[in-house]
Amino acid sequence: MQRLYCLLAIVVALVVSVSSAPLVKRGYTIHLNSDTAFCSFMPPKPGDDVGGTENQGIPMCSSASLSSSGKVFPTGFIVTAHYVKTSTYVQVTGRMNRSKYSLKATDGGGQYDHKDISGVTCNGYKYFVNMLEPDADRYCIRCCQSSTDCNTGKSTYGCPRVVPGNYS
Ligand SMILES: *[C@@H]1O[C@H](CO)[C@@H](O)[C@H](O)[C@H]1NC(C)=O
Repeated sequence: MQRLYCLLAIVVALVVSVSSAPLVKRGYTIHLNSDTAFCSFMPPKPGDDVGGTENQGIPMCSSASLSSSGKVFPTGFIVTAHYVKTSTYVQVTGRMNRSKYSLKATDGGGQYDHKDISGVTCNGYKYFVNMLEPDADRYCIRCCQSSTDCNTGKSTYGCPRVVPGNYS
């Protein structure tokens, strides 16, 4: 009997630890419509380390109606934006001003994607990859019909490799 309780306790502990692992189901809906109407995930609070809060990211957009979070970018945060749409993916790349959200110059950044935050729908697609790199004042987001266009496996290479595009 003792042994059975012990086994039960282990099973419960396992279930608890698995459910608190990175995969966070949020069910956000976001839209990338143009270089002046789009969204990006952001750390939950100003000054948060991007990489350290990856699975707590919340979408912010150029206007409240573009995502189910209803949140907008801090004024002046987005400096440039370049929109590209193909038949299988849509993306926005550009420059940001980290100081408008108190992000740190020493923060090498982090990646939000469909593996960390599940249940996100972006332009009707279920795959996305999204990075903020405060040290370089660079951001990128791509939403894809197929997982092959949204490569989540090379975040350390930075935006230009993960989402090739215009970063001027
Ligand atoms: C970023 O914002 C700061 C003030 O918050 C400003 O001094 C600086 O010029 C801005 N940088 C860019 C690239 O817009």
